[in-house]
Amino acid sequence: KMTNIESQKSVSLPPGETGLPFIGETLSFLFDPDFAKKKKSKYGQIYKTNIFGNDTVTMIGAEANQFLFRNENKYVVSTWPKSTRVLLGKLSLAVKDGNFHTSRRKLLAQAFQPRALNSYIPKMTEITQQYVEKWLQTKELTWYPELRKYTFDVACSLLISIDNASQTKLASDFETWCQGLFTLPINLPWTNFGKALKCRAKLLQEIETIIINRQQQPKHQNDALGILLEAKDEEGNSLTIEELKDQILLLLFAGHETLTSSLSSFVLLMAQHPNILEKVRTEQENLNITEDITSEKLKEMTYLEEVLKEVLRFIPPVGGGFRKVIEEFEFQGYRIPKDWTVQYQIAQTHKESDIFPDYQTFDPERFSPENMADKQKNFGYIPFGGGLRECLGKEFARLEMKIFASVLVHNCHWQLLPDQDLEMITIPSPRPRDGLKVKITEV
Ligand code: HEM
Repeated sequence: KMTNIESQKSVSLPPGETGLPFIGETLSFLFDPDFAKKKKSKYGQIYKTNIFGNDTVTMIGAEANQFLFRNENKYVVSTWPKSTRVLLGKLSLAVKDGNFHTSRRKLLAQAFQPRALNSYIPKMTEITQQYVEKWLQTKELTWYPELRKYTFDVACSLLISIDNASQTKLASDFETWCQGLFTLPINLPWTNFGKALKCRAKLLQEIETIIINRQQQPKHQNDALGILLEAKDEEGNSLTIEELKDQILLLLFAGHETLTSSLSSFVLLMAQHPNILEKVRTEQENLNITEDITSEKLKEMTYLEEVLKEVLRFIPPVGGGFRKVIEEFEFQGYRIPKDWTVQYQIAQTHKESDIFPDYQTFDPERFSPENMADKQKNFGYIPFGGGLRECLGKEFARLEMKIFASVLVHNCHWQLLPDQDLEMITIPSPRPRDGLKVKITEV
């Protein structure tokens, strides 16, 4: 009889609220920077909410990450809010799953292999130097919007060989498109989503022109587009122009928003931690870089690497990721129904005090060879996600962060200007509300 009662005990849904009809808790999710923190202190590591029109369970911590990353295509598949999905396009790698995703990922990864990455170093350095010179002439500047131009120029230059793209139509359309990515998908002329959809069409047109021009040139440039035009899948097929357009758009986006956030966090945190910046400077001086930056020199920047790891822990550019449940499962005693959305949490994982004691302190020593906080626990440090969908541009991002930091530290001092709001807007990627105002001077 006991077993009968036990077997009837139904496993319950995680605790939590689902908010208002239709919009659920979307507005708090988007605009309250403490949303995740408040939920966690009320409900713990696993709770339900409703965002972007979907019943959603947030699962926090290394174990949850491991469960989700290891059960990709079994219990869960990647998903994005509808606005993001529509704006990325249906051929985008980001919205594919299963075998097709795996095979496309392999193909796109060719643009991020070590050999390709090494070939990006001189151009990345050159663009960085140009921007640093320009910033030094201004003395005072609002850095975040400038950093956005910088990362957009780097991305366009290395991915599609378009120089100074931030000054073109491509950039303004791209910005409007970005503003629709994480919104309620209401297509009206005055909504961010509606405007973004129009810009998607324009962007695809512009990218198509770039691709066609390129195909007419006898020799392809050595950029990601060149690599992708040559690339073939396992069956020997190349990408169609339709697909190439969506994939290029994805790469431009994925690399732009996130990198801008991480660079602005780096300059902010260095301004707030002069002792750490001093150690970064000392390492740079000891490296004695008289000629161009090389991959060998970059490998020797070990302290800088610890600092950058801590930047990505402390203010992760991507706060978490979404999955759709394809088969009901149980986790930590709760039932997670089919068709619900699950969110894994990067920002909250990076506050787990067993891996990151004193997590509110910015401390690069966590990542020293003795401590190696990133290796202590599977999926306990996940700025780039994990599993089958781990960030494809991870090494590109790390390269750009390092080159940026190195060139900057060699040439500039910077200080935060008083009277500015440093509180973070968190979606899509963290940035200080007033755009980070600084005074910048030559070394
Ligand atoms: C996916 C973070 C830079 C391309 C992801 C994911 C994260 C992430 C967390 C996984 C999303 C998920 O689990 O659903 C970051 C951070 C960056 C960065 C923190 C910078 C500091 C870049 C760059 C590129 C890029 C520079 C390319 C130029 C991609 C792509 C995916 C992805 C294509 C989708 C992979 C897939 O669905 O298989 N990124 N990223 N990322 N990232 Fe990045």
